[in-house]
Amino acid sequence: MKSKEIIDVEEMYQVASYKKFPFALERGEDVWVYTSDGDRYLDLYGGHAVVATGHCHPRVVNALTEQARKLCFYSNLVYSDTRARAARTLVEIAPEPLSKVFFVNSGTEANENAMSIARRLTGRTRIISFEGGFHGRTPGSISACGLPKYRKDISPLLEGHDQAPFDDLETLTRMIGTDTAAVILEPIQSMGGVRMGGPEFYRGLRELCDEAGAMLIYDEIQTGMGRTGEFFFAGRYGVVPDLVSLAKGIASGVPMGAVLMTDDVAAEIKHGDLGTTFGGGMLAAAALEATVAVIREELLLENVRACFDYLKSDLARIPIVSEVRGLGYLLGLKFKGPTAKMVQETLLERRIITGLADDPSVLRLLPPLTLRRPEIDLFLGALREVASA
Ligand SMILES: Cc1ncc(COP(=O)(O)O)c(C=O)c1O
Repeated sequence: MKSKEIIDVEEMYQVASYKKFPFALERGEDVWVYTSDGDRYLDLYGGHAVVATGHCHPRVVNALTEQARKLCFYSNLVYSDTRARAARTLVEIAPEPLSKVFFVNSGTEANENAMSIARRLTGRTRIISFEGGFHGRTPGSISACGLPKYRKDISPLLEGHDQAPFDDLETLTRMIGTDTAAVILEPIQSMGGVRMGGPEFYRGLRELCDEAGAMLIYDEIQTGMGRTGEFFFAGRYGVVPDLVSLAKGIASGVPMGAVLMTDDVAAEIKHGDLGTTFGGGMLAAAALEATVAVIREELLLENVRACFDYLKSDLARIPIVSEVRGLGYLLGLKFKGPTAKMVQETLLERRIITGLADDPSVLRLLPPLTLRRPEIDLFLGALREVASA
């Protein structure tokens, strides 16, 4: 089928919950994707911040193929060498004392479990999240969501959720107390416009949680697995949360989520307390192990850090860019003049895929960690053309 026919069929049979790009993709290779009509696009959105190692990395494809021939799935009722290696690999790259993992299937499921664990272990009910944050679409995650447009028309939301202004320790100090089970945040608010706090914010969060006996949860569904130039945001500024939720890039596109936790937290979890049929399935586990191997062997953390510096200094010289936000390959470009949507559409005409944010002046770049200088130069050239048009 050609793109036009595919679009018609999808529109006819699939719920119209997403405004889609006007093409159908057939295949991908590294930072490039190809449409059914044979056009090639540079993917600076990384398949929705998912394909950490680029599209169809041969090592990930081989790991999946080999695993599929051996055993596609068995649940957590059995032990598995593939799952064992995936769990060990994830813990090895996590900062201490994060030392145990519970595998799930998606970001929202990871957050639901992280918040449930905090409530169960503290015996408290209240969860504090932040204005501008996004944590997923299931009841607990959406109740912690600080972007009003996702919360409207679905009330009642769950009880026990309060929201604080982001990067504002003073207000949080007034809100946190002996009934607070957890404070949850995206360390860099991606959908909210790629907003990051200062180092003191994260250090203060840890201190306030410790004083109140509350757990600190980092939603690293976007910041995790190398996107910021380190494997995790956890550990930055010497701050390690009690729980870290992960998804998106951890298995390079195979659906997988995870909750990383400290030994102390894990020690309180008994048989039957948590559950999920598909979590930790062998295909996802094989993909996770291959993803980490690629990031390590191809020095992708180093690549992200170097390219971030390069991008940042060049972007700052483009007249329509008023601010470059974020870290590594979680980038927000704030524009003066055109809206992000106008820039996105013009870039799309030049066959470059980028993302929008809740803030209409911010364009998001969430490319594969394999994005390198030649393709960055293509993008910078296109953006300069947009600026001068
Ligand atoms: C920071 C963050 N948390 C949670 C989620 C929800 O993840 P999922 O769509 O896999 O449920 C997302 C998805 O965009 C996200 O960006």
